Amino acid sequence: MNAEALDEEARGILRMNDRGGYTVPTDGLYPYQWNWDSGFAAWGFAQFDLERAWKEVETLFSGQWPNGMVPHILFHKPDPGYFPGPDVWGATNGPVPSSGVSQPPVAATFVRAIWDKDRDAGQGRLQDLLPKMIDWHRWFMTWRQEAGMIFITHPWEAGRDNAPDWDAAMAAINPEGVGEYTRRDTSHVNPEMRPTKYDYDRYIWLVQQGRAKGWDEARMAPDRPFKVADPTMTFILLRANRDLLAMTEALGADTREIKGWIDTLEQGCAALWNEALGSYDSINLRTGTYSGCVTSASYLCWYAGVENDRMLARLRAETSNLRYPVPSTTPSHPEFNGKRYWRGPTWAILNTLIGMGLSEAGHPEAARLLRQTTQDLIAEHGFAEYFDPRDGTPAGGGTFTWTAAVWLAWASPSVGDL
Ligand code: GLC
Repeated sequence: MNAEALDEEARGILRMNDRGGYTVPTDGLYPYQWNWDSGFAAWGFAQFDLERAWKEVETLFSGQWPNGMVPHILFHKPDPGYFPGPDVWGATNGPVPSSGVSQPPVAATFVRAIWDKDRDAGQGRLQDLLPKMIDWHRWFMTWRQEAGMIFITHPWEAGRDNAPDWDAAMAAINPEGVGEYTRRDTSHVNPEMRPTKYDYDRYIWLVQQGRAKGWDEARMAPDRPFKVADPTMTFILLRANRDLLAMTEALGADTREIKGWIDTLEQGCAALWNEALGSYDSINLRTGTYSGCVTSASYLCWYAGVENDRMLARLRAETSNLRYPVPSTTPSHPEFNGKRYWRGPTWAILNTLIGMGLSEAGHPEAARLLRQTTQDLIAEHGFAEYFDPRDGTPAGGGTFTWTAAVWLAWASPSVGDL
């Protein structure tokens, strides 16, 4: 492996996908600013250009809604190559045309990492961002929280669009009247690697429902057609709150509210434990039923600061059965598909979050192994969007921002020991 050449290639991908203040996930397939992609991009930039790293997060928060929500997509400039665009979402609630749902809040965690590298010069920038991050987290606790679990109102909100977690909740939707539309994703990428028409009808139908209520949370809350408690969101917000707490303490501001959120979410994590499955799982809150899915999000417990021996044993088993773990859906699940997006492929960003958690929780060997297989995966198969966990076949979009970013910040040999 030529680590220096790969580092250079990764920096080149970030620069190439830079649209001036924000980074697109990849050219063509995703031509706008995506929320959690930007968090990773900022962390990647922080390895060689701190100014640009701060800017990425500041541009993301320039789209924050008055209610605190930070949208999952910001449509800074129109682009006909993507569907559904701003005209379909019809969300004019914020300062920038956007989608009407959010995405996993990784921003506070990466802002802390950037600030750690830039304590003096970055102090003022952190001071500006801190209240915005607190507002966003409060929005989650107010509008997306039940019994300490964070739920999603659209599969896109979890960032794991077609995960089998949502199958039962999606099956309960009758997308009647959704109308005709033309997808754009399948003209960029092989349709076998993308969600199906069945999924898309329901994705668009859900967007139409939100739009009809003006994306007003108070109007949507009493009757949500899709409401699934999600380990991605719950673990990631818990972790982000811990980072927010550390930054708030360092700036000498009041931490009581954030401490309360942490207690609440710790209880929610316990509720996501499905004893019969022996794993963290999602729950359809409309029916109270577990989804029965072991996914890569189930392993985010350590990242959230939550220890679990049984998940560790599971991870070992997954690692000995597959060349490139962690699969987005475990291969023993009947819906496993090694090529279709979140139904099987390995995503380097999830590996990174899981690996960070493992090292912080005192499992250095498991962390080292996961980092090694992720390093091999990218070195051998490139900076793809996702990969087949059995043989590493790259899938989805290429020259992908977040894959390049986590290479630079976590996977590359040049990062050194973690
Ligand atoms: C897909 C992914 C989502 C990501 C987006 C842009 O929708 O499922 O997690 O943020 O693409 O990369």
